[in-house]
Amino acid sequence: MTHKTQYFNHPDGQYVPATKDLIEISNSSHKLLDILLRVTKVILLFVPTLILEVITFLVGTKKKSIKGQIALVTGGGNGLGRSLCLRLAKEGCHVAVADIDVISAERTALEIRGLGVKAEAFKVDVGEQQSVEQLKVNVESKLGPVDILINNAGLLAMLSLSEGTPEDVQRIIDVNLTSHFWTIRAFKDGMMERRRGHIVAVSSTFGIVPFGRTVCYSATKFGVRGLMEGLNEEFFMNGYGDDIFATCVYPCFVATRKEFLLYLQQYGCRVPIQTPEDVANLAIDGLLRNRCEVIASPWYMQIILKLYSLMPNSVNRLVMGVFVDNIPQLTDRN
Ligand SMILES: NC(=O)c1ccc[n+]([C@@H]2O[C@H](COP(=O)([O-])OP(=O)(O)OC[C@H]3O[C@@H](n4cnc5c(N)ncnc54)[C@H](O)[C@@H]3O)[C@@H](O)[C@H]2O)c1
Repeated sequence: MTHKTQYFNHPDGQYVPATKDLIEISNSSHKLLDILLRVTKVILLFVPTLILEVITFLVGTKKKSIKGQIALVTGGGNGLGRSLCLRLAKEGCHVAVADIDVISAERTALEIRGLGVKAEAFKVDVGEQQSVEQLKVNVESKLGPVDILINNAGLLAMLSLSEGTPEDVQRIIDVNLTSHFWTIRAFKDGMMERRRGHIVAVSSTFGIVPFGRTVCYSATKFGVRGLMEGLNEEFFMNGYGDDIFATCVYPCFVATRKEFLLYLQQYGCRVPIQTPEDVANLAIDGLLRNRCEVIASPWYMQIILKLYSLMPNSVNRLVMGVFVDNIPQLTDRN
């Protein structure tokens, strides 16, 4: 079996485990001198690199101009997507508003045109690869090649692990995570040819802190985080580190659809709720500064989120208890 096919083909009983001597050969092939040189390089460059990062953090980086660029926002018809579209238009971008709800997309496009830039509405189901491929054709023929891709469309599905049908679970994964693969694969080659581009993904604080009762949603948002961090490294490894950027945005709770706010109220959420405009402004400011990560939430939430992976579970649960109560399963809710 070739290296390429081994991940997809599993003929019965033909699995060959790695042997002990193969492991020894692999480990002994590392040249001591080579490792020493690499470690010395780290020791020499560690402090200056860190100092440079701290200075950049304190002073801030210069904002780039995106005036005249073509931006595509998925889920741009409503909520956070609509605010992202309007902020991009204020920066001088022409905007493709893509949504499964084309009437809302048309409404956003009309608002954008009022700001003096071009805007078009497009119907798409981001969970379907063919629909995304058609979107690419439609956007490029009406507005031109996409410079900025914002993967915002998502299903705010507050379901615990045992809730919803298997189709519901698959749909959440398709719309919230798999769709990012379809859009990135559709638009990244054009960005690489032109050596210009920026891909933004909207994850969630639930992509940093997992929360019970939203297991499937959290899993997709963690997936988006992994995808975007990997994408950044891939652009860097392929020599596009100075041309194409990937930004992952982690909003907390945003006042978008009414039923979501009512849900938060019902279960006593004590996290401050942000407006979609505030989150869009933080996200686009991050894009303009080529930030890899934008935690779009109050400063104290940012500290809690940064410390989360370092703390034991018991401490994390204690802290989270300040913000949310135990939410019953859907089946027990009235
Ligand atoms: N609202 C919050 O509190 C919050 C918090 C963290 C992260 N987020 C994330 O922000 C993003 C936007 O959330 P929102 O609150 O604005 O949601 P929303 O439900 O208010 O709006 C989502 C938009 O996406 C569109 N959409 C849904 N499925 C689609 C599909 N298959 N193809 C194309 N468009 C589709 C909808 O028509 C709608 O216009 C989502 O990814 C969400 O997970 C939201």
